[in-house]
Amino acid sequence: MNENAGNAEGSNARDRKDVKAMQKTAVDLLIRLHIVLKISKLYESNNDMLQEQAKLLFEGIRDVTAAEDEATFKVRQGAIFFNGFRVKFVLSNYAIFKFVLEEFRKREIGAMSFLSGLTRDELIRFMIVLAKREKKASFSFEEIAGEVREAGIDHVVLEKFQPNETFTSLEKNASKLFFLSIFHLKETFEKEQRDENLKLNTTRRLMQSIFNHIADNESFICGLTNIKNHDEYTLNHSVNVCMLSIALGRRLGLTRGELVDLGMAAFFHDLGKLETPIEILNKPARLSEEEREIMELHPCQGAEKLIQLRDFKRLPLRAIHVALEHHIKEDDTGYPHYFKKETTNLFSKIVKVVDYFDAITTKRIYRKKVFTRAEALSLMLEHSRTEFNPVILKAFVNMMGAYPIGTLVHLDTGEVGIVFNTNPETPYLLRPKVKLITNAQGNKVDGEIVDLTDKDPGAEKFLRTILKALDPDTYDVNVSDYFLAQAQ
Ligand SMILES: [Fe+2]
Ligand SMILES: [Fe+2]
Repeated sequence: MNENAGNAEGSNARDRKDVKAMQKTAVDLLIRLHIVLKISKLYESNNDMLQEQAKLLFEGIRDVTAAEDEATFKVRQGAIFFNGFRVKFVLSNYAIFKFVLEEFRKREIGAMSFLSGLTRDELIRFMIVLAKREKKASFSFEEIAGEVREAGIDHVVLEKFQPNETFTSLEKNASKLFFLSIFHLKETFEKEQRDENLKLNTTRRLMQSIFNHIADNESFICGLTNIKNHDEYTLNHSVNVCMLSIALGRRLGLTRGELVDLGMAAFFHDLGKLETPIEILNKPARLSEEEREIMELHPCQGAEKLIQLRDFKRLPLRAIHVALEHHIKEDDTGYPHYFKKETTNLFSKIVKVVDYFDAITTKRIYRKKVFTRAEALSLMLEHSRTEFNPVILKAFVNMMGAYPIGTLVHLDTGEVGIVFNTNPETPYLLRPKVKLITNAQGNKVDGEIVDLTDKDPGAEKFLRTILKALDPDTYDVNVSDYFLAQAQ
């Protein structure tokens, strides 16, 4: 598998470079398309701004069609493909992706191809047809395609969207919620640094929605926390810890009100890291004694920041406990140094387990080994009673299961896939639903979602079985892409 996957991903440096360049071109074109579409909804074709932006889009398309004859955007399962490449979602472009996907969806467009020979004038006429079509209350793909033909636009070809919906609206909303949480936290942190008023009401509402979603589909929410965005580590980490803490608290029997408080506490557990110098946070080597002391100040700094909030009265008191105590170990060691087990808050013990898990399963510059989920859970079990509260840890291990959503798995057919949903019945715990991402030869594919409980009717044998979980980083797979794609 190792070899095959290597070939499939075009592991030589030149291919990698091409893929990167292609990604950049695709994102640039998407941004331009987004701008022109927006302007053409507002202005006539002779408008200067429209002309100017259409020129940029046109030039971008021309560069691609000169080399590849066509520039095609395709929408499938909520992802955008450009000339066969899946365009990677990044947080900063999320709004643009969402906009373009929505524009395609409204018009039932599955693919839009610009062919070589396209003129700037033709492109503007096309964009106007596209924009105009939105104003009418109802229109069909056929109407738009008809109008494009009538207008003599020969170098743009549209294809109708073929529904291939594998995601429920619940799962889509959950993905959206995940990103909303990250945006909200980012805004909160920025405001905190500018010393502005934080809106804890919004945070509370967000926690309530997370709670509702977890009540509906716990495993999907837990799967979302597999999304690891390395650039925005603290944000991503805080949202993961928040979601997993609510899910774990629910398993421990906390009430709805308590879970909302727990979510808020977990959301802000590392607030104090805003004070830790970035060179220390991201130092690629072991911290010196002095640096470690600075790093270990973050619990106290976080608690102080929370107390100073103007909106302090809306904050659960336990948030302060959690900020202060989430690095206290079960045997009373850890930091800060002056705690007794009896006084450590239950919320802090929950966040401690989840925080540790999310940290060791995330790649960081200074961390040599990144644990797979299964490895992380077994390592943590070795430290039950010394590092973690054994009851809470056990509930957590049960919740995370053997192959949680988002695990990259190697199947006995040679295929590689990502666990997309679990089968809750006990005999099928090891037979989740898996989205295939390579074929048996190891070539990357945008494969279907298969159910591992499916049997070959003749032989009464399971069609596919998981051989082992793989580390996504070793195989250069970005699991988050497959989930982000659904967050439209
Ligand atoms: Fe921390
Ligand atoms: Fe943390």
